[in-house]
Amino acid sequence: MAQQELVVVLDFGGQYTQLIARKIRQLHVYCEILPYKTPWEKIKERHPKALIFTGDSQEVYKETAPAAAPEAYRLGLPILALGAGVQVMAKDLGGTIRPGEHDPGKKIKMTVLKENDLFAGLAKEILLLPEQGKVVEKVPEGFTVLAATEMMPVAAMAHLERKFYAVSCHPQALETPAGTKVLANFLFKIAGLTGDWNIDVFIENTVQRIREAVGENEQVVCGLSGGVDSSVAAALVHKAIGDGLTCIFVDHGLLRQDEARQVMATFQENLKMKVIKVDAAAEFLHKLKGVTDPEQKRKIIGTEFIRVFEREAAKIGKIDYLVQGTVYPDIVESGTETTAVIKSHHNVGGLPKDMKFKLIEPLNTLFKDEVRQVGAALNLPEDIVWRHPFPGPGLAIRVLGEVTEEKLKILRAADAIMIEEIKKAGLYRKIWQAFAVLPDIRSVGVFDGKRTYAYTIALRAVTGQDGMTADWYRFPYEVLEKITHRIVTEVPHVNRVVYDITPKPPATIEWE
Ligand code: XMP
Repeated sequence: MAQQELVVVLDFGGQYTQLIARKIRQLHVYCEILPYKTPWEKIKERHPKALIFTGDSQEVYKETAPAAAPEAYRLGLPILALGAGVQVMAKDLGGTIRPGEHDPGKKIKMTVLKENDLFAGLAKEILLLPEQGKVVEKVPEGFTVLAATEMMPVAAMAHLERKFYAVSCHPQALETPAGTKVLANFLFKIAGLTGDWNIDVFIENTVQRIREAVGENEQVVCGLSGGVDSSVAAALVHKAIGDGLTCIFVDHGLLRQDEARQVMATFQENLKMKVIKVDAAAEFLHKLKGVTDPEQKRKIIGTEFIRVFEREAAKIGKIDYLVQGTVYPDIVESGTETTAVIKSHHNVGGLPKDMKFKLIEPLNTLFKDEVRQVGAALNLPEDIVWRHPFPGPGLAIRVLGEVTEEKLKILRAADAIMIEEIKKAGLYRKIWQAFAVLPDIRSVGVFDGKRTYAYTIALRAVTGQDGMTADWYRFPYEVLEKITHRIVTEVPHVNRVVYDITPKPPATIEWE
């Protein structure tokens, strides 16, 4: 396995670090985010080829502002400081800083004062979003001023010999073509990276690591849900060890129309994977009988899920590895520093603590868009690769109130029509999540001259990045009209359709 070039992004706080990491990966350079407090030996062990300091945190402006480990500057590695990372570098190396005066969010012209590799190929005047915090007043010894703005005499500086560069721009500036060029210049011209990281290399390396770790007779199990992450994780492990992997797919009876059949067709029939399908619908529905409280429903489904999974796993015998579809943002956000593909089992959400196995988390260094690329490269159908997120408790939290077979049937039919029309209109990928909800209300209508008293279907479609916040999707009216028309004419027991236009917050995406 070829040694992979690594860039370490040292995170000095704030919300833009992942944006920078993704930008670096889009330039085909592998990078990992580490908190600035990571012990220096740990960073060194990973043999990075360059460092990036970034942050937009108010922390950096305090008297007790974070500093990089002095060793960071002694290893002969090129460093690019962005955003608040500039102040860190300036202060650490003996420069001084003062409060900035720029208008927040306003693009400012930066004039290049000295020809240099960082701004190579760019015009003399660059439009960049400046940093709003403190700016450099006096550069550290050995540094040259590379660029300035009207109100910022040091907008970019460098110690050319040591390859330390700093640009006082907001991390979001990297989204612009000029910002991307600056980053590319640093990675390729200054740090001399080759930019040969891509999804195929990732797949090849990961497959090899899994093969080396898993012994001939060891049992590897994956809980398959049909969602993007678990599907891609399973397909990747399958590529590595074939039938050494057993997937368990629990059909809790709360899936969408035809979903269970599609999952089986994809994984068992097309990809020839070993999948055990557990039909547990009756058990789940029985447990949910009479239950109306949303959190109670979640609890019952969670507990039942583990019980069913454990029962099936016990039939396999001793499990050595459990595959999980953890993705990189889960790890970065929880502050975990290690991203080894295989690690010992700590505590998998909900599984009993005394279950002994190791975890295989083959996607734990990837962002969601990269997970999708892996899925596509492994020939997973588009339907799976681009699937909207679907909650573990499934339709139970979209049938408000008590869950019954009859209500599930109505909801499935309405939901399938909605998704079909969204796909037909080519809108599916523009939407974070779209689904139908069955509120527990009936209202009066009229059909064929007769009075009806039937259910209402609520449509929900939202845009967003991560589900933490969301806005309602502005459907073209004709798509809403078509969905509504089809639901009230094709789905029995429904005489009214409404569209939920509440953002999150204050509403949540799901109704329960
Ligand atoms: P809310 O409704 O909280 O949803 O705005 C945010 C995201 O989380 C999903 N969601 C769940 N996923 N189990 C899950 O696995 C749950 O109990 C659950 N509740 C909400 C929701 O679909 C959305 O993507």
